[in-house]
Amino acid sequence: MESFKIKKICCIGAGYVGGPTMAVIAEKCPHLKVTVVDINEERIDEWNSSDLENMPIFEPGLKEIISKVRGKNLFFSTQIAKEIKESDMVFISVNTPTKTEGFGAGYAIDLKWVESSARQVAKYAQGHTIVVEKSTLPVKTAEVIKEILLNSIKNKNCKDYDKTFSILSNPEFLAEGTAIQNLQNPDRVLIGGEDQESINYLKEIYMNWVKSTKILTTNLWSSELSKLTANAFLAQRISSINSISAICEVTGAEVGEVSKAVGFDSRIGSEFLSAGPGFGGSCFKKDILNLVYLAKFYRLNEIADYWEQVIKLNNWQNRRISQLIVEKLFGTVSLKKIVILGFSFKANTNDTRESPAISIVNDLLENGAEIKIHDPKVKSKQIMKDLNLSFNTKEKRKEFGSWDYVSDVYKALENADAAVIVTEWPEYKKLDWLKISEIMRNPAWLFDTRSITEPSAIKETSINYWSVGNGSLE
Ligand code: UDX
Ligand code: ADP
Repeated sequence: MESFKIKKICCIGAGYVGGPTMAVIAEKCPHLKVTVVDINEERIDEWNSSDLENMPIFEPGLKEIISKVRGKNLFFSTQIAKEIKESDMVFISVNTPTKTEGFGAGYAIDLKWVESSARQVAKYAQGHTIVVEKSTLPVKTAEVIKEILLNSIKNKNCKDYDKTFSILSNPEFLAEGTAIQNLQNPDRVLIGGEDQESINYLKEIYMNWVKSTKILTTNLWSSELSKLTANAFLAQRISSINSISAICEVTGAEVGEVSKAVGFDSRIGSEFLSAGPGFGGSCFKKDILNLVYLAKFYRLNEIADYWEQVIKLNNWQNRRISQLIVEKLFGTVSLKKIVILGFSFKANTNDTRESPAISIVNDLLENGAEIKIHDPKVKSKQIMKDLNLSFNTKEKRKEFGSWDYVSDVYKALENADAAVIVTEWPEYKKLDWLKISEIMRNPAWLFDTRSITEPSAIKETSINYWSVGNGSLE
């Protein structure tokens, strides 16, 4: 291993984590060749597309980096075997959804994609390879990867006597919408592992742009558990403020004022205190469910119940919004036109995984509403997948509504009975409600689940207004 040096890196999985992370590594480390591989050919073609507006992932700042480094030291490919073979370091950044079937369904993470990546690495790697787990994973996953890799060497058919592996955990803390910023200037980088030499190789890569004092090293399990814990704490703050939003609405307190006052306490801090329709995204729910699963596995039932409550509160908050919409529209939304503003799980991303919009729209469709959906970045094809329903088609069930995709908000709001702001896209803050009040059908409603509109601007119109944590103005 004397002459071992990191020259080529490969990342398995060209998704929301793998794509931006490797783009930033390539940008900051021009001396390294970085290749992102994926089994999904369409995704790789999109990453290679000359039309930068057609990237599979929308992240502010991403296309600028891609245009600078793609084809120089950043490559996207489907040639998984070749790239693994040539790489000194392989990141695993594949999807890790919650299991839907079998043991642990609804709680445990489905590791089949991680396992198949580990098997590919075991098969194709040559010489010494450092394997870095990047996906959000259950505690002790590194063990699974390690076993697959080490067994491949032990296998008597294995002729690569010089094949060796070491495994590191390097959880990603980027938040979508600010991924590039988070990667370029991280709060911390966490590297878990047992082999100090390999830890140092990865640390050296980050030290090209991150101060060494921000790079923490731990054992493998602490690293994995830290990621789950960080996400559980963040999600818990949202459920906490959402619980307070409901109290504000009935008492006359304003949730924004409460958040501000509470956040001024330096021990609490001001971030992550915005009430909303409930958290979405690919991590929070999955990670907490995973923590619950882990606690149950070790028979720590009180701990499992404690964390599960964060999810229950989130589901409740989401549900109460659709119920409230129906209630305010005289108890029925059948054949009423409702415009949904925003479908992504937060602003500045085209990701819709676990978006609160999905369940709100589903509830309204169940109640017969005619839904128009607008989002600046999410494509109609994605919404169709999430709702599992083509647009403009009437379901056979009598009471079921229909939905359509719209690109012009003002046009969509013509004769609409209600508008629902689900995502806090900046452009929704600038809408002209006076103009809109003239084109909506009376009595018209605006439901602002993010509290981003200025109540005084709505007061000047004939529109009825409800916002999270403030209640109604009728
Ligand atoms: C999260 C973690 O922040 C990140 O560190 C981790 O690596 C992955 O999971 P992400 O899911 O991309 O990132 O976005 P985040 O900004 O955390 O938002 C998650 C959800 O919480 C969104 O639906 C967002 O709208 C909601 N949220 C966030 C609130 O409702 N209120 C807040 O104050 C903050
Ligand atoms: P994340 O948010 O964690 O990045 P995504 O679902 O956006 O998750 O991306 C994961 C990517 O991993 C997908 O593009 C998927 O096709 C890819 N992937 C899953 N399994 C494999 C595999 N065995 N080999 C290569 N790519 C894989």
